[in-house]
Formats: sequence, structure tokens, C-alpha cells
Amino acid sequence: MNADSRRKVTTRRLQEMKEAREPIACLTAYDHLMAATLDRSGIDVILVGDSAGTVFAGYDTTIPMTMEQMLYHAEVVARGADRALVVADLPFMSYQISEEEALRNAGRFAKEALAEAVKLEGGAQVCPTIRRIVDSGIPVMGHLGLTPQSIHQFGSYQIRGASDEEAERILRDAAALQDAGIFALVLEKVPTLLARQVTESLQIPTIGIGAGPYCDGQILVSHDMLGIFTRFRPRFVRRYAEIEKIMADAFERYRDDVKKGDFPADDESY
Ligand code: KIV
Repeated sequence: MNADSRRKVTTRRLQEMKEAREPIACLTAYDHLMAATLDRSGIDVILVGDSAGTVFAGYDTTIPMTMEQMLYHAEVVARGADRALVVADLPFMSYQISEEEALRNAGRFAKEALAEAVKLEGGAQVCPTIRRIVDSGIPVMGHLGLTPQSIHQFGSYQIRGASDEEAERILRDAAALQDAGIFALVLEKVPTLLARQVTESLQIPTIGIGAGPYCDGQILVSHDMLGIFTRFRPRFVRRYAEIEKIMADAFERYRDDVKKGDFPADDESY
């Protein structure tokens, strides 16, 4: 590990990484152990994503996640990370009702969970809210393209920005979000060339998920890339392990040992 790989990651450091063309490696975590392992592995940004709703809590969408659930995930993650920047997702309906409520909820992530930044979904319509949160001293990450909290409005998890009209809107929204003060922008499931155009048009870093290789950084859901969550697998997920298989195998061998009376052995007993 070099000196930079131990240096605390801050929003400013991410900006330096964009300028130095050093790719930013991001993954998600919902628990302390995962966060500590990601941190030790040199992951730059740990996102406490509301993907916890689907891959951890077993909901069909991210929509049911509540402030209390997300605060709990964020708090246990933040205590596990020393070097990585910890960003927490503002859950659905925690920032849409009013700017005051959004600010209060972002403040809870900063004060109660010790998250270093929050992320919220949407374009021009969320800019006044972002300004309020950023003005209070809490960094905000944006999220465009496929925005899972609006899944019922879109009606599908298809790629976004494939039409000229939608691509232009994403470009306009990206510029508006940057003006509103976000420090980085997640681009989810958009065409490679659009992600490249957005990345080149912004001063702040872009973090892609299913957005091709030209973003300033990449993020995956840890439970997807580890093969812990296997109910479905988007094409952009590269599997680095098959943990669900390893777990199932271990559980079956344990069950068999118990059924056969092979567990516990003498040296596992008192
Ligand atoms: O909730 C999440 O994990 C996310 C990532 C997919 C970017 O928003």
C-alpha cells in the first residue's frame, strides 16, 4: 500500500482523484463487518445504499426503507470505516416533502450516524433541497439515470438516457446538480457514451454503475459482486465471489453433521 492508499478519503480528495485521473473505487455496506473489510481493502467510498431494502431486507424495491432503518445501517457502517468516505442514502420520502424536512433528515445522518455525506436521487427538481443541505455543511452526492426510488413512475429497470430527449435531460440535470453544490454524481444504467459526455462536462467526479468505463469511479452493490444476493443479476454486475454457494454448502454440511450426531465432537465440548 502506498501513502495515498492510507490517506483519509474526503470530498476534496475525490476531486483530486478526478483531476489526477485516478479511478475512484466505491462499494456498498450495510453492516459493521462489511464496512471494516471494505475499509481495510482500500475502497475509497462506502455507500450505505438503500439497496439494503432489496438485497438485505428482502423487499422488492428500495421504497419501503425508513429513516430509522437507514440510520441504523449508517451508524454501524460509519463506526467500521476509518479511511473511506462514508455516504448514506436519504430514503424515499425523507427529502421530497419539504426542504426543512430534507435538511433535518440529512442532519440526523451527520449527527446520529456520523455519515460524512448523504446521497439523494433526482435532477433539477431536487436542486433547492441540495442547496439547503450543502449550505448547512453536509456534502451531497447526486444520483441520475436509473433512480430506483422512482421505479413505479418509470415502470421498469431499463437503461435510461437512450433517447436523445432523455440524454439531453440527464446532461442538463447533471449541470444543475453541479451548480447546486453536489461533490459527486452517481450515474446508474445509462449508455457508455452519455456517461462519458456527462463526465467530461462536469468538474466534479462521476461514479458509474452500469454506465461504462469512462466515469471517474465505479460502484457496485457488494452483495451483488460477492454473489451473496443472487435473485437477479444485472448485466453490469461482475461477480468476484460466489458467497451464497459457500454459505449454503457450509449450512448443509453443518445440518448433516448435527443430524448424524457428528457435531459437536469431544474437543468442541467441555
Ligand atoms: O442504493 C444503492 O446501493 C445505490 C447504488 C446502486 C449506487 O444507490
